[in-house]
Amino acid sequence: MSIFRTKNIDAMVAVSESGASGLKKALGSMDLVFMGIGAIIGTGIFVLTGTGALTAGPALTLSFVIAAIACGLSALAYAEFASTIPVSGSIYAYSYAALGEIVAWIIGWDLMLEYGLATSAVSVGWSGYFQSLLHGFGFDLPTALTAAPGALAGKTTLFNLPAFVIMMLITTLVSIGVSGFAKLNNIMVAIKIGIVLLFIAVGVGYVKPANWTPFMPFGFHGVFNAAALLFFAFIGFDAVSSAAEEVKNPKRDLPIGIIGSLSVCTILYVAVSAIMTGIVPFKQFEGVDHPVSLALQYAGQNWVAGFIDLGAILGMTTVILVMMYGQTRVIFAMSRDGLLPEALARVHPRFATPFVTTWVVGIVFGIIGALIPLNVLAELINIGTLSAFALVSIAVIVLRKTRPDLHRAFRCPGVPVVPLLGVAFCLFLMSALQPITWKAFGIWILIGLVVYFGYARHHSRLAQP
Ligand code: ALA
Repeated sequence: MSIFRTKNIDAMVAVSESGASGLKKALGSMDLVFMGIGAIIGTGIFVLTGTGALTAGPALTLSFVIAAIACGLSALAYAEFASTIPVSGSIYAYSYAALGEIVAWIIGWDLMLEYGLATSAVSVGWSGYFQSLLHGFGFDLPTALTAAPGALAGKTTLFNLPAFVIMMLITTLVSIGVSGFAKLNNIMVAIKIGIVLLFIAVGVGYVKPANWTPFMPFGFHGVFNAAALLFFAFIGFDAVSSAAEEVKNPKRDLPIGIIGSLSVCTILYVAVSAIMTGIVPFKQFEGVDHPVSLALQYAGQNWVAGFIDLGAILGMTTVILVMMYGQTRVIFAMSRDGLLPEALARVHPRFATPFVTTWVVGIVFGIIGALIPLNVLAELINIGTLSAFALVSIAVIVLRKTRPDLHRAFRCPGVPVVPLLGVAFCLFLMSALQPITWKAFGIWILIGLVVYFGYARHHSRLAQP
């Protein structure tokens, strides 16, 4: 009954390669890059850059670079795993094979926090842009229904109605199964990239370099704090690895998908944040929940700003969709392994989806999105994700020692130095998060351990004879 018992890697790989999972192998490297970008570009760049600019000043660009380095180092570790053990379940599955059940459990528990709260957070971002668009047509919601309690200084707000409504719509879609999801996703992602490029092309003409000085009004402290928050903008590249069993040539295509989508987004983010802070003096982002389109309104380009609103709304819709899929898949994988009740893996007879699980998750996180301010949500997501990323880097080092014989199509360079650097970066960013975030995270992990020792450990498939 060791809590460090592991799953058999060779059996996992054999099942995946034989196609016994029943999933169709149809995705190529470009599909994966698109999928990654679909999950990455969202509330981080469209909304949190406002808070980021207030925290770091024009050095926001530097904060993006730091967050990107932390993600890049973790992405190398991800890519090695994804190319060695191409099974669905992402790092939950990798760590079950490399580090043992208790670590896999904690990672799965972290991922539930990451994906679940990410849907809530992105629904809040969606709501801000939706209201900006409505406002453009001369329509405003009653203030009480525009945001979570305490989210807007000096205003009485009670419930973020648009955020709740979009969550219910997407829950409906996910619970009945979206057919043609990949195609729809590709179209929405193309629109999303299109409007980011439109922003860059139009915005660059209005940049006043004087707005970039002083570059670091709050010193390195501000830059690091903003990096810890904006790490959120990169979350999602990990979702690529969850498609492992549906990829034609996973050992080659997965690393391209993971590292490719991350690189494209880094370039776009640095360009957008430089232009935003170049058009608008950063202090004017106070209390703004649609900073990217605000920059163009500031420049007098109201029409283009309207397009940005529309594109951002579509773009954030795909993020919520992908994250909600991710959430239900992790729960599915964990209950299939016996760590969560089997009922959670029950599939609807007609829709062939985990129907009840999807609705429970959708309603719970829909209410959370309507009642908790975005910054609080983003920090919680970051701490969960950063800790999971750190564990993946450690897992790469461990697996090199315990299973040097495994065929690794992609090898993370410079082991153990590079993964250790990845761990250091993640811990460093975690240390820049607020004490309240740490407390909430501690409570979440504690509950997780209680559930593990009270339930999961005895019901695990590995505990059965
Ligand atoms: N990276 C995703 C976003 O920014 C979660 O919305």
